Amino acid sequence: MSVTVRVPAKVNVQLAVGGARADGFHELANVFLAVDIFDEITVSPADELRISCSGQDAAQVPLDRTNLAARAALALAERHGRSADVHIHIAKDIPVAGGMAGGSADGAGALLACEALWNTGSSRPELLDICAELGSDVSFSLVGGAALGTGRGEKLTVLEVGGRFHWVFAMAEGGLSTPAVFREFDRLNDGAHIPEPVASRELLDALAKGDAEALAAKASNDLQPAALSLFPELARTLSAGKAAGALTGLVSGSGPTLAFLARDADDAERIAQTLTASRSCRSVRTAVSPAPGAIRIS
Ligand code: C5P
Repeated sequence: MSVTVRVPAKVNVQLAVGGARADGFHELANVFLAVDIFDEITVSPADELRISCSGQDAAQVPLDRTNLAARAALALAERHGRSADVHIHIAKDIPVAGGMAGGSADGAGALLACEALWNTGSSRPELLDICAELGSDVSFSLVGGAALGTGRGEKLTVLEVGGRFHWVFAMAEGGLSTPAVFREFDRLNDGAHIPEPVASRELLDALAKGDAEALAAKASNDLQPAALSLFPELARTLSAGKAAGALTGLVSGSGPTLAFLARDADDAERIAQTLTASRSCRSVRTAVSPAPGAIRIS
């Protein structure tokens, strides 16, 4: 008996960051959009908790209890007074440490898969509670589609999406640590007045209408200066993508993956080819939004 769950990656079309809170987290207005790049998490009974991982980036995935998939299994088991004796296999397609919520996706996937394997009868709100404990982006990985995340990003309001958006993602050589990028944000804004983060009305309207040009005009990421400061090579790829005709280009989440919005699928293909030829990044791929959240596929 095994259960497999598929979970999407995300891009943030708006990431408005407020000042650091007393707990060290930052207040956010975070507009998440799921894209059709997926990890697949398979769980099966085992003598003890064990993780394995396959895929191009597998060597960079921790296989111990720091992995969010392991933490999700342990959190669910603890709530239901059972042991987390399960083998979790992660078939990884989402870039590791790329700002696309790959680790969060594995947490949400393992949670849903263990719920089905153990038949714990957990309600959706209970699963979302565990997601919020695991990390700021895990709830969105469960929900998918599009959502506004407030608080530290974990309080979700589902958003309407009125069409398909075509993306080109440029993966960088190496990763960025999310805490390091937030620390750099604090350093760069030291002493500055940081306004309350709010979602842009025009951006939410553009999402609801499926209007790529309007979305591009309003897309923004307050972490971008911090990511560029830690990873200056990204500037060249950003310029290359924009010169290739992208409606906009921005750092995805805390980076270093770059997201370029295209007019349509053909445009995305052209931009991807130009970016590949520019040799300014590790790899390039196209993807489409929105994508569904975590779902059981077998
Ligand atoms: O919640 P998560 O574990 O994904 O966050 C990773 C790190 O990113 C946090 O430890 C914190 O340094 C930073 N972070 C933040 N404000 C947020 C979300 C994350 O400062 N709203």
